[in-house]
Amino acid sequence: MASNRLGVGVLGAHAWANKAHLPGFKSCERMDLVAICDVVKDRADALAQKFGIRKVYTDPRQLIADPEVQMVDVCTPTDTHLELSLAVIAAGKHVLCEKPIARSAADAYRLHEATQAKGLRSKTGFTFRYSPALRQIRAWIEDGTIGEIFHIHGFEQNSQFLDPYFPLRQVPAGADFAKLSPQSIVGYGSHLVDLMRWMGGEFGAVSASMKSYVPERMVRGYEGMQKILADDGTVGIVEFASGAQGVLQTSIVAVGNYPGVEIRVYGSKAAAIGRLVTERGDAETLRFARADAVEFEPVTLPANHFPPGTSVKTMWAELYYQNLARHWADEILDGGRPEATFLDGARSQEIVDACVASHFERRWISLPNYD
Ligand SMILES: NC(=O)c1ccc[n+]([C@@H]2O[C@H](COP(=O)([O-])OP(=O)(O)OC[C@H]3O[C@@H](n4cnc5c(N)ncnc54)[C@H](O)[C@@H]3O)[C@@H](O)[C@H]2O)c1
Repeated sequence: MASNRLGVGVLGAHAWANKAHLPGFKSCERMDLVAICDVVKDRADALAQKFGIRKVYTDPRQLIADPEVQMVDVCTPTDTHLELSLAVIAAGKHVLCEKPIARSAADAYRLHEATQAKGLRSKTGFTFRYSPALRQIRAWIEDGTIGEIFHIHGFEQNSQFLDPYFPLRQVPAGADFAKLSPQSIVGYGSHLVDLMRWMGGEFGAVSASMKSYVPERMVRGYEGMQKILADDGTVGIVEFASGAQGVLQTSIVAVGNYPGVEIRVYGSKAAAIGRLVTERGDAETLRFARADAVEFEPVTLPANHFPPGTSVKTMWAELYYQNLARHWADEILDGGRPEATFLDGARSQEIVDACVASHFERRWISLPNYD
């Protein structure tokens, strides 16, 4: 690539772009924030001003065609991800898309194959892969410190939608409110199964159960309270292809602070617990125990997992997206190891789909053998 800075265009100028993507990109010396686009012009104008972005569009096709834009970030509502990402790929540009990258695994695989056909880089917005604590656990798995993995416990649970007056988002257009619709397993579960797969390898089979707890709630785009059966919590058990066992819980109604991710990995030599819950101003903690010293001890998070100028006191969304941005820029500009690609997004979607099918069919669902 000619330039040593990556020209970035952002689609979607609302909550998550403001909180995570734009602070992350802005902090990255190797990224040049060229353009932002929102179908609501005021939103794009406001964030362009806040983050010093040169160009504003209201038509995503114009941003995608801008010759200064080399990588497009799709940070729009879930139902638009597939179409917008396909348009980015068709224009021959690298693409980052928020999770879930599509509404079905088949569509997610289409996206992956489209990037492969054009030789483009892709990244799924798997924010928590960029947690310093979870990157350290992954390093301990890779260098053999943990040993053979026996169990992985994964949680993503917080109280984001406990209040029925806080509108539910990302409800698919035309959804039948009388039929239980996957929510926590999609919004949170796509991250969680990705993290568990990143740590423990491919899933062999899952058995899961979804449950609605809040009978009436506000839903974005609808007037007044709605009777809606939405999956507020999903619990699942996992057989990994390696033989390891896993348990998972996603919940949007579990009291506790954000983002509420916890991963526990238990191996033949050691165990580690990464807890991504903001407490007393710290974004996360890491604890470690050895087979011969079984008391879990706190671990100081290694400096190499933090972007310059950040610490465990940095707000979690900004910390993780700053980390994602620098790794993503290096990946594209230096040809580094691909990470959290659309293939990972598709595998995650396939596992989420299997959890949903398991609930409705009341049975274990096997995943394809990818070894
Ligand atoms: N990775 C994470 O941890 C995480 C956290 C929060 C949200 N998300 C995901 O990020 C995405 C955005 O979330 P949000 O809360 O900001 O959503 P949002 O609905 O609040 O904002 C999306 C913005 O996109 C704009 N938009 C819609 N269609 C567009 C189009 N075709 N072209 C350009 N702009 C368009 C809307 O006007 C809106 O301003 C969602 O997919 C969500 O699931 C991920």
